[in-house]
Amino acid sequence: MMVIGFNWPVEHDNTVALILDGELVFATEEERYTRHKHSPGELPFGSFNKLFNFMHKNNLKPSDVDAFALNFNHKKFPLIKRYWAFRYSLFTAAFYGTPILKNKNLFTRLPFLDLNSLAEYFIRHVYTKNNEKMPDKIKIIPVEHHIAHAASAYYFSGFKSCAGLVLDGYGERDATSFYQIKNGEFEKILSIPATYGSMGLMYEASSYKLGYENLEGPGKLMGLAPYGNKSQYYNKLERFLKINTNGLPFYFDIDKKYRKSVNYREPYEKIFDYVTPKINWDRHGELNKKAADFAWAVQKVAEEAVLSAGEYVKELTGENKLVMAGGVALNAKANMELYYANLFNDMFIFPAANDAGTTIGAAAYVYEHELGGKMKNKRIETVYLGPEYGDEEIKNVVEASKFKYEYIGDDVGVVADLVKKGNIVTWYQGRAELGPRALGNRSIIANPTLLDTWKTVNKIKGREWWRPLAPSLLSEHKNDYFINPVDHEFMILMFKFKEGMKERVPAVYHVDGTARPQTVSYKQNKNWYNMIKAFGEETDEYLVVNTSFNLAGEPLVETPKDALRSFGLGGFDAMYMQGWLIYKH
Ligand SMILES: [Fe+2]
Repeated sequence: MMVIGFNWPVEHDNTVALILDGELVFATEEERYTRHKHSPGELPFGSFNKLFNFMHKNNLKPSDVDAFALNFNHKKFPLIKRYWAFRYSLFTAAFYGTPILKNKNLFTRLPFLDLNSLAEYFIRHVYTKNNEKMPDKIKIIPVEHHIAHAASAYYFSGFKSCAGLVLDGYGERDATSFYQIKNGEFEKILSIPATYGSMGLMYEASSYKLGYENLEGPGKLMGLAPYGNKSQYYNKLERFLKINTNGLPFYFDIDKKYRKSVNYREPYEKIFDYVTPKINWDRHGELNKKAADFAWAVQKVAEEAVLSAGEYVKELTGENKLVMAGGVALNAKANMELYYANLFNDMFIFPAANDAGTTIGAAAYVYEHELGGKMKNKRIETVYLGPEYGDEEIKNVVEASKFKYEYIGDDVGVVADLVKKGNIVTWYQGRAELGPRALGNRSIIANPTLLDTWKTVNKIKGREWWRPLAPSLLSEHKNDYFINPVDHEFMILMFKFKEGMKERVPAVYHVDGTARPQTVSYKQNKNWYNMIKAFGEETDEYLVVNTSFNLAGEPLVETPKDALRSFGLGGFDAMYMQGWLIYKH
């Protein structure tokens, strides 16, 4: 049985995923093809095309798809939001050339604001555009947004029963929701609406105060926070956050008239207008105390809320395992606070915790709850789920380049040696990672023992100089570096460094003594493992700097051509590309 999941209505982080016989076999994000980070408002034409190619390569027929899962249930939107979503989807579809406005039946459906019918038009168009035979019946099943998040975390955790925590900007109405999950049954035990329980919207509103956009800002604030201190910003913000009050683990206390607003952002804008006017600062210049103190306050409040949410769900469910998803679950620092609080003896955070993951969760949920299948529910250890690019294609791209190159196959010790000498090397192989982190298939690597590499890599990527870089290290060496770590493959859980690490690996040592690592095993990624191992054998540090392979403002490179172009334009020294080593000089 096959279920395809995709985002509908189209918002951001558009992703197409395929569940086949209870397993996730393919997922790719539209941003990789449009080359616009987070693919805002972009229909997933590129992703569907890659999915169809993948299916044909694996003898699967797109016409055999049993159902299409959507990551929102539009019927649960407030009416006005449903209207906006319908209108927006209609015009987006028309804008992208879907012949939707020509359909005579369309307007008979308009009064019902039926977003499923628009999704069906889109599916028909995408099949036709790709010369694919249409499935006999196009079965479209919308899934409540937070259930889709919770399902993404649960079905790939390997847990039978657990507590579930979803924190994002907002779903249809909810912003934070709590679950008890047993054998694939999801019992929602509490949800806090978007107008007073959204950590995602709190982060967005605060990002604007520092001049950042809503999708990129929160991660940057998290990186900036440790440079700040407790200040008037925290004192002001704290007044609004109620912890363990009125039966809720947390909520924002603001005039009740805003609670009914259908503009979910409004209460948070009011809060932050009280906290501070917009802070003018040069994000690439000297560190700005106001900006850092403000980021500190926002992060602190987020951590207090996440911790309280964790305690609440633990108490109500009595479970000793936790799964998490939702954009706020990308806050690796808040996750760390929860981890070190030792409330749970195992935590699984879905690697694409943002809305990219909801298409996967929705598809898994439909597979089990609507089609009667059984998800395999194995703990995923890798997310190399994108399209494949064959050796022949890579060879052609390399040979057509103007750079000096040689074939080294899997002799990746040569790469480790270049990294050891201080070179900044891009690393490209296999299927792309799903989610916002590079995990050894589309990475930039550098020597963590040289402090300079931190600033050089940030400069190449157009990142603010103060933002931390993360490490990838061999799983068996995690205890050498971190306090009480566990294997964590996805870089969304921070750990505290042990003493003395600032001197040993300064390029990945953040100012508060933390890092957001990827632990790597041989089984997960042989070449990646071997390269880090070779680096360790030469330097005694079984750890490298690993950041996503992209240029400033771009999403992760996808195709071999993207990789070569970015390598050529960026200040990199060499590139390992599926067996080839390419030199800039
Ligand atoms: Fe979400």
